[in-house]
Amino acid sequence: MPQIYPIQFNIKVFNTVNEMEQDWQQLLKLAESASFNSYAPYSDFNVGAAVLMENGEMINGNNQENASYPAGLCAERVAIFHARSNHPKKKILKIAVVAQPGKQGNFVPVSPCGGCRQVISEVRDDQDLPIQILLTGKENKLYLVEDINMLLPLKFSKSQLL
Ligand code: THU
Repeated sequence: MPQIYPIQFNIKVFNTVNEMEQDWQQLLKLAESASFNSYAPYSDFNVGAAVLMENGEMINGNNQENASYPAGLCAERVAIFHARSNHPKKKILKIAVVAQPGKQGNFVPVSPCGGCRQVISEVRDDQDLPIQILLTGKENKLYLVEDINMLLPLKFSKSQLL
């Protein structure tokens, strides 16, 4: 019989961002404003992201699409590469992502795609410090995950290239 190894982690669930620390509120606002500059003529899904660095600086990004669809990039990666290319030595503490919902309602946080989780996770390992991430949960609640690595168990990583 195989052994079973359970994979478990905790999330903190909030009803609204107003229940969260001030810097999350600021990060979400910055992500919202970035979403207005998104280039998404193909999906019409405008996403904004913002990261908080260890010195308190916040850097944003948005999704950039292309007629050659796979050539586009998600908001999270634009933001994180923007931060790392300008501040290669500064650690990233938090990342928030939102999407414009269209005409129906307010901004909603987004649950990042697998490729973005992979990228954020490598930054986290490189800086040897967890990156907190905010996701949308059931009924549009906010799920705070304390470490991006929790969202990517058994991932492919640098060590496997050796
Ligand atoms: N997108 C993001 O920017 N971030 C996500 O977490 C999910 C998806 C973008 C990619 C594409 O431009 C559009 O949203 C539709 O998938």
